[in-house]
Amino acid sequence: MSKHLVVVGAGVIGLSSALLLQEEGYSVTIIARDLPAPFETIDPQEQINYTSPWGGAHNRWIPPNPTTGENTREYALSQATYARMSALNKSDHATSGITFMKGIEYLEAPPPDYISLTADRASELNIPGFRLLEPSEFPDDRVKWGCEYDTWCVNPMVYCCFLLRRFAIRGGRIRKRSIRAPVEVFSLPASELGFPDNDSTKIDAVVNATGIGFGDPDVFVTRGQMCLVANACDATVTRQNADGGWCYCVPRGFDGGTVIGGNREPDNWATTASAEVREAILRGFAATYPSILGAGGELNVIADIVGRRPTRKGGPRLEGEVVKGAGLVFHAYGLGGRGYELSWGTAQEVVKGVRQYLAERVV
Ligand SMILES: Cc1cc2nc3c(=O)[nH]c(=O)nc-3n(C[C@H](O)[C@H](O)[C@H](O)COP(=O)(O)OP(=O)(O)OC[C@H]3O[C@@H](n4cnc5c(N)ncnc54)[C@H](O)[C@@H]3O)c2cc1C
Ligand SMILES: *[C@@H]1O[C@H](CO)[C@@H](O)[C@H](O)[C@H]1NC(C)=O
Ligand SMILES: *[C@@H]1O[C@H](CO)[C@@H](O)[C@H](O)[C@H]1NC(C)=O
Ligand SMILES: *[C@@H]1O[C@H](CO)[C@@H](O)[C@H](O)[C@H]1NC(C)=O
Ligand SMILES: *[C@@H]1O[C@H](CO)[C@@H](O)[C@H](O)[C@H]1NC(C)=O
Repeated sequence: MSKHLVVVGAGVIGLSSALLLQEEGYSVTIIARDLPAPFETIDPQEQINYTSPWGGAHNRWIPPNPTTGENTREYALSQATYARMSALNKSDHATSGITFMKGIEYLEAPPPDYISLTADRASELNIPGFRLLEPSEFPDDRVKWGCEYDTWCVNPMVYCCFLLRRFAIRGGRIRKRSIRAPVEVFSLPASELGFPDNDSTKIDAVVNATGIGFGDPDVFVTRGQMCLVANACDATVTRQNADGGWCYCVPRGFDGGTVIGGNREPDNWATTASAEVREAILRGFAATYPSILGAGGELNVIADIVGRRPTRKGGPRLEGEVVKGAGLVFHAYGLGGRGYELSWGTAQEVVKGVRQYLAERVV
């Protein structure tokens, strides 16, 4: 009989995990307070703790530090994610919400991880389409280093709705429901989880993909404000300034416009957008990449976006925990500003952890 698993959370992490668990042959239910829906219908106040709608979302190749090895684990997760995005782009081009394009980086004060990123190192790291930019290609003389590579962007809610639909059509069960703690799931009656309503059905494992979640003291939010514009753009462009400031754009594709962003504010819980931040982001980006202005010569603002990146001291929590008297809870939360770019790699870790636990469990 196939094992019954519950994934708590329907952000990009819960959805990717649920799909891969399903591919492994498990019978899976998703329980979540928030489910993917058209972006235009997600409530910016009520659903601000649901991060996935408010992400960019692009993949930036962030090289591991060559001396300290920092970021090595995340780098591997991003490579695994790229492979899967590339396969989905081929198999489901019209519906997946994924667009492949050039990524461009401009740095005013490049740290060692970037300075050591030569064409040889990029090929060692398997960064596709990598090229160092010539100084003549920099937007201004404050930029000291630049490169381009091949990458992907997603329109977040088109992509997440695609994942949810695929999960449902393959037999996945979905319950829109708030829970107080992942362990509570083990004691829910099978009928509440959509499983066959008889006593022998029990939950074999739970995945905790709750993003900000339930008050892990190491989790904090990093506020991000972006501006959605109607303008199209031919690349995803990121600029890092010497003063620590950023600006970037992420074309969303699928008639989703382009988001222009820039700010990261740890522990700021403000839910409303600041007009000054919007002006600064738009001005900074238009000066860096003027071709986004197009024939009209201006940015056509649609909406401000405010989101909370589920950040965690020490990095994402990706590990299993055997809860006495209940079962395995596999944690997959705290992905911070990188949930999309690490999503499939993270889901593979979830599958590995769950499979290992169920194989070793003495029934
Ligand atoms: C401005 C901004 C820009 C970003 N840009 C990028 C980018 O370019 N690239 C990138 O990779 N990432 C980006 N991110 C980060 C990315 O959006 C997040 O890392 C990702 O969305 C986190 O996904 P998640 O599934 O972990 O959490 P969430 O999307 O928050 O999902 C959590 C799920 O758990 C459910 N849940 C929580 N508590 C409960 C409960 N008690 N009961 C039931 N269900 C519950 C929620 O309802 C939801 O379904 C950005 C984020 C922001 C804010
Ligand atoms: C978001 O989460 C915080 C912290 O848990 C909580 O105080 C707040 O009420 C939540 N907001 C909404 C709209 O649910
Ligand atoms: C993405 O899909 C499009 C359309 O099929 C294709 O032209 C493009 O080469 C694909 N890109 C990648 C990196 O797979
Ligand atoms: C539980 O219900 C399912 C579907 O109705 C059925 O196939 C299965 O045999 C039942 N199991 C037990 C132990 O009754
Ligand atoms: C699930 O995740 C939250 C953080 O989001 C954590 O506080 C909680 O302890 C986790 N596990 C369980 C079994 O509740």
